[in-house]
Amino acid sequence: MDKLLIAGGRPLAGEIAISGAKNAALPILCAALLTREPVTFTNVPRLNDIATLFKLLAQMGVKVERGAGDEVTLDASGLDNPLAPYEMVKTMRASILVLGPLVARCGEARVSLPGGCAIGARPVDQHIRGLQAMGADVRVEHGYVQASVPRLKGARLFTDMVTVTGTENLMMAACLADGETVIENAAREPEVVDLANCLVAMGAQISGAGSDVIRIRGVERLHGTTHRIMPDRIETGTYLCAAAVTGGEVRLTGTSSCYLDAVVDKLMDAGCDVTSEREAIRIKAPARLNSVSLRTAPYPAFPTDMQAQFMALNCVAQGAAMIRETIFENRFMHAVELQRLGADIRIDGNTAVVHGVERLQGATVMATDLRASASLVIAGLVAEGETTIERIYHLDRGYERLDDKLAALGASVRRLS
Ligand code: EPZ
Repeated sequence: MDKLLIAGGRPLAGEIAISGAKNAALPILCAALLTREPVTFTNVPRLNDIATLFKLLAQMGVKVERGAGDEVTLDASGLDNPLAPYEMVKTMRASILVLGPLVARCGEARVSLPGGCAIGARPVDQHIRGLQAMGADVRVEHGYVQASVPRLKGARLFTDMVTVTGTENLMMAACLADGETVIENAAREPEVVDLANCLVAMGAQISGAGSDVIRIRGVERLHGTTHRIMPDRIETGTYLCAAAVTGGEVRLTGTSSCYLDAVVDKLMDAGCDVTSEREAIRIKAPARLNSVSLRTAPYPAFPTDMQAQFMALNCVAQGAAMIRETIFENRFMHAVELQRLGADIRIDGNTAVVHGVERLQGATVMATDLRASASLVIAGLVAEGETTIERIYHLDRGYERLDDKLAALGASVRRLS
């Protein structure tokens, strides 16, 4: 298994480009299942999760053509196997995003339950309830979601909690349903809006994406299009935190701060100077940060996917911070690893109290999930001496060429295979 070796203490400086958003690309690539025509996507990040999805789609009969650079064309005209097998779904739970499109396009689907992951049980009951409300016969048998229906019917859906992929699955299913579907309590994340924009470009009739009520009027069929994936706001936030914690000055291109208001606010509270340009964002950090408390919640509030990174930042900030995680039940796995680096963190249920220390000491730590790994990288960049991060396959799922990008910013980072 690959490891990352980081020698801490160097302020990051320079400029790097941000890649396309993993959490926009995953649902948007699944949208190609909704049409017989080829669909082309640009700014598709080169990530393990994306490669896993391509394998999953290919075994369904979808033609996947990765062009030069970040362009991909998917052709689902040959879709003949609406199955997502356990062996593939267990490695990437977002595979559940093929469920809605398969039921809408084929009238049937057999998708393995994703199972939990390090950060929580991650059930998909809202996805299932919504499809049932739209007339599908959906059963969970032998670890698989089995769904069938001649044609979905528009319905009024209300999700018990805000669910990002739940909203995305149901929105995609509703595009080809008979009649109008209204999704209440819908997720407002920018990735949901990016998906809606792609679906509309394919001929779907959707209004309200970005608000908590999304209306979809079903159509007979969708057609091909070319869609550019939005920038990855979590990758952007992660590098902003890396620059902040090392007292650096960095410019990130191909991105913007417009989807990161809550994160930029906290970075400015921490003492950073953040300026936004049309397609770039720059940060200049102080010698020592102020501690910042935060509470995760659905967009536009502070994103849960940035919680671990801010915990690392608070480990060396001046003062004490309280971090409340309200989305997932077990998303503090990074805390015990940060403590190995000398952090002063106390966990009480879904609240963590972090007292900033003068400095962290490098050590060997283990990544447990994608964003926890990112928090260990951030801590390693500022820790004294060398930090070895094991199991960095978690990082490769969601960060394109992270070691190259950090090295381009002056970090001392080496990947050991
Ligand atoms: C998406 O996961 C993201 N993944 C996650 O990013 C992100 O952390 C999460 O949204 C919250 O923003 C993708 O978009 C591929 P949810 P998702 O459904 O959709 C509960 C990363 O690091 N729930 O919004 O799976 C659920 O357990 C990943 O890139 C149900 O109970 O999250 C959680 O507590 C991690 N039943 C809460 O709702 C359901 O049917 C929010 O989950 C669905 C969700």
